[in-house]
Amino acid sequence: MRRIEIIPGASALLQSLRGLGYSPETAIADLIDNSIAAGAAAVTVDLDWNEGDSIARVLDDGRGMDDAGLVKAMCFGGEGPTGVRAQDDLGRFGLGLKTASLSQCRRLTVASRQNCEIAALAWDVDAVIESGRWDALIPDRLTPSPQLDLLLRHESGTLVQWDRMDAIGGLSGLERDAFYLRVRDIGAHLGMAFHRFLAGDARRVSITLNGRAVKAWDPFQRHHPATITMPSEPVRHGGRTFTVTPYVLPHRDRFANDAEWEASGGPGGWGERQGFYVYRGKRLLVPGGWLGLGGTRAWTRDEASRLARIAVDLPTELDADWRIDVRKSQARPPGRLRPRLTAIAGLCREKAREVFAWRGSRAKPQRRQGELEDIWISAGSAAARYRIRRNHPVVEVIAEALGTHRTLLEGLLAFLERTVPVERIWLDVAESEGAPAPVLADAEIPALATQLASLVSTMAPTDSVEVRVDQLIRHLPGDTAALKRAVLAQLGHQP
Ligand SMILES: Nc1ncnc2c1ncn2[C@@H]1O[C@H](COP(=O)(O)OP(=O)(O)O)[C@@H](O)[C@H]1O
Ligand SMILES: [Mg+2]
Repeated sequence: MRRIEIIPGASALLQSLRGLGYSPETAIADLIDNSIAAGAAAVTVDLDWNEGDSIARVLDDGRGMDDAGLVKAMCFGGEGPTGVRAQDDLGRFGLGLKTASLSQCRRLTVASRQNCEIAALAWDVDAVIESGRWDALIPDRLTPSPQLDLLLRHESGTLVQWDRMDAIGGLSGLERDAFYLRVRDIGAHLGMAFHRFLAGDARRVSITLNGRAVKAWDPFQRHHPATITMPSEPVRHGGRTFTVTPYVLPHRDRFANDAEWEASGGPGGWGERQGFYVYRGKRLLVPGGWLGLGGTRAWTRDEASRLARIAVDLPTELDADWRIDVRKSQARPPGRLRPRLTAIAGLCREKAREVFAWRGSRAKPQRRQGELEDIWISAGSAAARYRIRRNHPVVEVIAEALGTHRTLLEGLLAFLERTVPVERIWLDVAESEGAPAPVLADAEIPALATQLASLVSTMAPTDSVEVRVDQLIRHLPGDTAALKRAVLAQLGHQP
């Protein structure tokens, strides 16, 4: 077949690429990804208001680039999404350096040092628009700055500089105070996105912003004694395993003060920061949200679930399946994993609601005297085990009646306990979220009333008939008034 090469118009394409929708924080985080991938131990970010003509500089002490390496780095789409990448390479599309930077500024300059040689190149949006060609600029001299001095003192490293910042919703056009307020938000975002690097849970990396160390923010508040860590679930997908760990954070009453509570909520606050935390190579991509999962309707962020936070730890190779976007701020799980993730999250949300509702007290309220204990006991642990209480009055009464055949009952109970369809129940509960509780159909009442009446009549008569009926019926969901009347009628009891 004959071919014709159609070369994209540099000017139009470059201007479109500028509009991918980065915020200053996601753009800077993308540069820090590159620094981390280059083995940097320290990254310094400087955002200078500069009387309204703001300048951003990101300097790292990573392995740097030589001339040829820098040319490749400045190429749009250099090493794309299908290239083989090292385990700790946080890059993906071969675009970040260019698109993140040029979304915020009209000139990007990169100066890099390897073996004490220095290489420098710049993309200038206006120069490309004017020439209509993909011509990068080779700067004759670099603008002096303290960061450049530092770079020249390192053996290797890279300095990325943004000049002529012009992004709408970015760092341009702001008054001094507004600018530095935005800088503070950016610091909070970086402390969240890179918390595992800052805290040394991944390879330790220090990040400073305008001279101040960026502090790690742990979404799971693992140091807090009242944080509940639910068992980690290994999930297999695409021949690899990743882990999902649900956490339920403490009730507000368990925090020392309001300031601690607010800080633990994180950037954007408790409501916003509930749900899944998706990590790729230990870098946080998705800080909360329910990933479009849920029952018949997708879960939304709601007040009662705000203490639920779930860590998903992806290896970098799995990102294609998770539909990570260029800005690395969105991810969607593969369809096949949705039921499993929904089940895990459903359980976490449920537990979070419990903690939310019980106002931080450890135990549920004590039962009143004379009330029947639950017949089911949860034995907890990773493989959830549910047992039937052997000293439950109903169980005792039946065992008694069976006499020497009581081992049959024991056999049945043990069999039931070992076959509780836990996973199935998870799924059903998760899927029916928001659906009304099942109601007792009128047709079911007579048979159930006969069964309950015979249990009540065998129970020890320490309590009145009515109390005994209440004790049993209490455990049934839905409106039980009609059932109660039917049981009492069977027992010949007039209310
Ligand atoms: N700070 C840095 N230090 C060393 N190399 C870098 C740095 N930033 C970018 N690079 C090089 O430039 C390449 C392109 O970067 P980028 O456009 O962000 O795409 P990606 O990170 O997806 O590969 C990187 O793969 C890396 O080789
Ligand atoms: Mg990158």
